[in-house]
Amino acid sequence: MKILVTYFSQTGNTEKVARSIYEGCQGEDVDLKPIKEVDPSDLKNFDLVFLGSGIYASRVNKALSDLVAAAQELPLKFIFFSTHASKEAYQDGFKVVKKKIAESSQIIDEFDCCGDNIGVPEAMRKAMLERLPEDKRKEAEEHQQWLKGRPNEEDLQNAKNFAQSVIKKL
Ligand SMILES: Cc1cc2nc3c(=O)[nH]c(=O)nc-3n(C[C@H](O)[C@H](O)[C@H](O)COP(=O)(O)O)c2cc1C
Repeated sequence: MKILVTYFSQTGNTEKVARSIYEGCQGEDVDLKPIKEVDPSDLKNFDLVFLGSGIYASRVNKALSDLVAAAQELPLKFIFFSTHASKEAYQDGFKVVKKKIAESSQIIDEFDCCGDNIGVPEAMRKAMLERLPEDKRKEAEEHQQWLKGRPNEEDLQNAKNFAQSVIKKL
């Protein structure tokens, strides 16, 4: 099976997850590439594409939908993966990409995990916290602590296991 793992990653969290997914795909004919290095006309040559991004203002980066839109022909199977600072992936980050893919292909699974929001400047984070009422501020500070260093070893192992189990089922 020919597999592509491709991703947009502004601050490196999604890239770490992509590498773990790539590790989980060993044994198959698998490529790992940042999305800007993917030639849209090459997409059709893959049986399965793992497509990933961080979540920014509730959406994945536009590079994902641009790639899908630029491809004349799409692979039949996609799997989405994302990292986000929220506790749960409650945001439909892939909404636009999904719409484009659904016409011709199947989204067979999704993986997500938390990613430390190191890309948000410290001063901005502090200012946001200061605007919150006391109880909410405490909650947000706890959340920040919990998020620190994510994706961690366990998250990355989960990503690898996810890829292995999904491939086994195909
Ligand atoms: C500009 C910006 C906007 C973000 N917006 C969101 C958001 O709407 N929801 C969320 O859960 N996380 C948000 N985050 C956190 C990122 O999704 C999270 O840190 C993710 O792991 C970043 O992935 P990356 O390191 O691959 O770029 C935002 C981060 C940045 C830098």
